[in-house]
Amino acid sequence: MKKMDLSFVLIFLIGVAPGLSGFANESILEKATQSFESKIIQLPNPCYESETSVEKALSMRRSIRTYAEGSLSISDISQILWAAQGITKKTEKLPTKWNTKYEWQGGYRTAPSAGALYPMELYLVVGNVEGLAKGVYKYIPQSHSLKKVIDGDKRTEIYDAALKQSSIKEGAALIVMAGVYERTSFKYGERAERYVHMEVGFIGENIYLQGMTLGIGTVMIGAFKDEQLKKVLDLPEDEHPLAIMPLGKIPKE
Ligand SMILES: Cc1cc2nc3c(=O)[nH]c(=O)nc-3n(C[C@H](O)[C@H](O)[C@H](O)COP(=O)(O)O)c2cc1C
Repeated sequence: MKKMDLSFVLIFLIGVAPGLSGFANESILEKATQSFESKIIQLPNPCYESETSVEKALSMRRSIRTYAEGSLSISDISQILWAAQGITKKTEKLPTKWNTKYEWQGGYRTAPSAGALYPMELYLVVGNVEGLAKGVYKYIPQSHSLKKVIDGDKRTEIYDAALKQSSIKEGAALIVMAGVYERTSFKYGERAERYVHMEVGFIGENIYLQGMTLGIGTVMIGAFKDEQLKKVLDLPEDEHPLAIMPLGKIPKE
């Protein structure tokens, strides 16, 4: 619910519905506020240290397509999203060539980006994550938070769009990367396409390596039907799906 809609609900409840008992008023008010607030979920702070060295994570890295049963925790999700696109150095200064059609997300990130223009949007598709309802969420790097954009489990529909690859159905959650070429082409013209695609690789490797430190496996999935996936996720016109990465606990040998 947008802020304006919420104010309308509040004004209605407080002023125009005096017939409601105090108790009913409170509970309806509470509900309205909750449904407004529950769209934005603040993630726990990420950790900046681990017992697994970069060398160890690199030597263990493998594409993993089957996962142990069970849920992921919200701290696992927080850590992996931070590794993928977290802000590591805030700056209010806009890049010299910034397409003002887009909101500035305020800082340098864990993965490099041509011109520091950050064309990738990350979506988290939740199936089985403690503390997060099933649904699709957009990652907001600036506040390290999630914004719910769709309710319900979308994994089967994404599995269908991705040639029925079992890792997608099995993953407790999925990360979908969607590129906004216009952010990078505003400065780099035709070269933007290759730059945006390079960035999928950087972000993907960060997810692989951070996953290894947490016992979480993933695989880079590039085989899917673009338009079908875009429809399932209800992506805005200018966001183009470029990769899917399922996340699940690595099975014990
Ligand atoms: C651009 C790209 C697209 C890929 N697409 C798929 C895919 O659709 N499905 C899949 O299971 N693996 C996919 N992979 C993973 C590769 O199969 C995997 O990286 C390769 O077999 C090497 O194994 P490793 O990652 O365990 O070292 C893709 C990897 C890359 C880099």
